[in-house]
Amino acid sequence: MKTIAIIATGGTIAGTGQNGKTVGYHAGEISVDDILQSIPGIHEVSRIRTFQLCNLDSNEMNKEIWMQLSNTINSLVLDEDIDGIVVTHGTDLIEETSYYLTLTLNTNKPVVITGAMRPDTATSADGPFNLYQAVNLACSDKARGKGVMVLFSNTIFSGRDVQKVNNFKIDAFGQKASGCLGYMQDEEVYFFSESFKKHTSNSVFAGNYTTLPDVGIAYFYGGVDSSILYHLAEKNEGIVLVGSGSGNYSQAWLNAINDLSEKGIVFVRSSRVSEGIVFSDKVFDPNEYCVASNTLSGQKARILLMLALKKTKNREDIKRIFNEY
Ligand code: SIN
Repeated sequence: MKTIAIIATGGTIAGTGQNGKTVGYHAGEISVDDILQSIPGIHEVSRIRTFQLCNLDSNEMNKEIWMQLSNTINSLVLDEDIDGIVVTHGTDLIEETSYYLTLTLNTNKPVVITGAMRPDTATSADGPFNLYQAVNLACSDKARGKGVMVLFSNTIFSGRDVQKVNNFKIDAFGQKASGCLGYMQDEEVYFFSESFKKHTSNSVFAGNYTTLPDVGIAYFYGGVDSSILYHLAEKNEGIVLVGSGSGNYSQAWLNAINDLSEKGIVFVRSSRVSEGIVFSDKVFDPNEYCVASNTLSGQKARILLMLALKKTKNREDIKRIFNEY
């Protein structure tokens, strides 16, 4: 029998509220051991070791907790008795945590993140089934070397590409044009595709961190002036622009981007459109100061830029990194 380490961080999967109701609850209230008690048969799937890292609404996640979580997993996977890792997490920030772990974990062992849209006290809570499937996925030989996966509602997503696409239904995740990695039916695992992007033990960022540079995000909208960019530049080494269309913005923003780039701020251009790709663009960025986010959303581009800036401040090197990851 395999051994799986479950690292609990909180979220709705550990949430409680009024019996039966799906709203008006508090995330991060019960322990992972309490959740496991409501999953019949889980101890026949694998030996389980639980670690309660924190018990938070995932909106409280930050780079300190991401580093702590990743460093904890990097040391657990060195234990030959541990075959795979499951992380329980709030759904709101799963996409950021999953990308941070995708880039920093130094392992080929399966790492699966899951959560729930309904609290533990709701009628038909989805957490126990998601956790049951996540443990089965972490036990699967097919999942080795697949990088960090997010398991939600019978579907396996990649940690790089997963996005929360619905804030209401239990089928809350997707990865847009790239579909998903595969599906599960009860315990059975079916993979259909794989990411070409570097991850986990092939990632140049795999390892432990104790500090990360500050990177901010600026959202473009009609009529916004450039003061937000100057404000962010006071506290951040890099700024991710969430532009309109294919990563676009006004002349006022372009002037500020040129000015601040010359002063050493590194900009990444992403888009507020939920699907598509941002390439480098000589019209919106004539000096080619900005790094194109490709298919990464603003919040995922921020994770990569933090790690990239840890290695280099050279824009051309950062452009290469964004093409590889
Ligand atoms: C959270 O992200 O912790 C709250 C929302 C959720 O888990 O669905």
